[in-house]
Amino acid sequence: MSPTPTGLRIKSPESLIAESGADLEGHGLKRTMGLFQLVCFGVGAIVGTGIFVGLSDTVAEAGPAVIVSFVLAAVTCIFTAFSFAELGGAIPVSGSSYSFAYATLGERIAFLVGWCLLLEYGVSVSAVAVGWSQYLNELLDSLFGRQIPAALSAGPGDGGVINLPAVIVILMAATLLVRGIRESAGATAAMAVLKIGILIAFCAIGFSAFQADNLTPFMAEGVGGITSGASLAFFSYIGFDAITTAGEEVKNPRRNIPVAIMICIGVVTLLYCAVAVAAIGALGADEVGNKPAALSLVVDQVTGSSVGGGIIAFGAVVAIASVVLAVMYGQTRILMSMSRDGLIPRTFERVSPRTATPVANTWIVATVFAIPAAFASLDVVVNLTTIGTLAIMAVVNVAVVALRRSHPELRRSFRVPLYPLSPVLGIAMCLYLIWGTGWTTWVQFVVFVAVGALVYAFYGRRNSRLGAVTPPTAGAAPVPREG
Ligand code: ALA
Repeated sequence: MSPTPTGLRIKSPESLIAESGADLEGHGLKRTMGLFQLVCFGVGAIVGTGIFVGLSDTVAEAGPAVIVSFVLAAVTCIFTAFSFAELGGAIPVSGSSYSFAYATLGERIAFLVGWCLLLEYGVSVSAVAVGWSQYLNELLDSLFGRQIPAALSAGPGDGGVINLPAVIVILMAATLLVRGIRESAGATAAMAVLKIGILIAFCAIGFSAFQADNLTPFMAEGVGGITSGASLAFFSYIGFDAITTAGEEVKNPRRNIPVAIMICIGVVTLLYCAVAVAAIGALGADEVGNKPAALSLVVDQVTGSSVGGGIIAFGAVVAIASVVLAVMYGQTRILMSMSRDGLIPRTFERVSPRTATPVANTWIVATVFAIPAAFASLDVVVNLTTIGTLAIMAVVNVAVVALRRSHPELRRSFRVPLYPLSPVLGIAMCLYLIWGTGWTTWVQFVVFVAVGALVYAFYGRRNSRLGAVTPPTAGAAPVPREG
């Protein structure tokens, strides 16, 4: 841990690695995840509500040029994934962007990154659970011709009273997670393979009815539509960085973390572009845009039967449930890291000796984020998740530059190509997509960050373990108690 001449509270990468036991066994977490499991875990965290539910809204914004929106979102992710890969390979510990910020930009920024991770992970759990609820209703409709009444399957903002299925899927995920990573990872792997299979099957059906005319006029909604479409499309990529939250449970993390991130982002980008082209090519943008369960609709119309659409709905229910599981896992590990640092209460770092999982932490996360799942509208939670994630990703790109400067000698299993162009373009793309989310979301985000700054000032800063052990530096002013 190193006080810096500027008085920033910075944790050195070496101390982070030593603390977490990244090269040893540490903190009661077991190293169970290999590369395949890690890729499945990543796909599990990424592919869900965004493509199954959000595609139709994105098509409505951008028209056939939604493909460009997906590519822009993917490019943002690729630049940022390079940065995640370099940082994950250099500092292979739990905590993801939070730990990276702590090692490079200091405690105050790290706390705010951790705070924004409550949007990227926690609020995302709520958003994804709301999407799950929609597809559950679609599945029930195709199986039994009946749906759960709107009053019990949507929040007040979406025309209901309480979204009970969304709450239930969150509680089910928590139950699996407290039982241990081995079982949860196995379930995630099976779900990841299934969801990729379902999307490939969708593409095959969509392309069988492909008509090039459906892609014209290509830029029907103009550049503005492409931009807001890219911000919406970005939600469907969120989750690839969850891989870095599993640092302490991964075998050979220096190699496996960067490789898994690259594989995930590549596979998912290809899949999303193919799905978008298949859907629009089959029915045209007007038929796909703003329709609930659009993928089921496409399959029903192309095959002329409701069986195919029912199978897609089943796949969506499974796929989206696995996102809830993976994202909630990520949230609990981030909170463990923050708790170890004293920035939030110690309850969050306790690992049960029986299950080797953070039981209290998991149930608190499930309870807190079941509330927006029950009552918030999908738009609000999706947009907050998106802007929070983009802000974090901008910081991660900055962190790569900061770490290269502060620790040029650190062993890196992966280095971003075209440095410093790649992280600089990553920052620019994040800001571009933040711009596309619109002013209502900006205002909500600013309020959220302001509350986080207050929590840091009145709790985190005072209880920080780094703050408690940081001695005054010789010959310098006493180290200020601020990050
Ligand atoms: N990328 C995740 C999803 O689309 C959040 O559900």
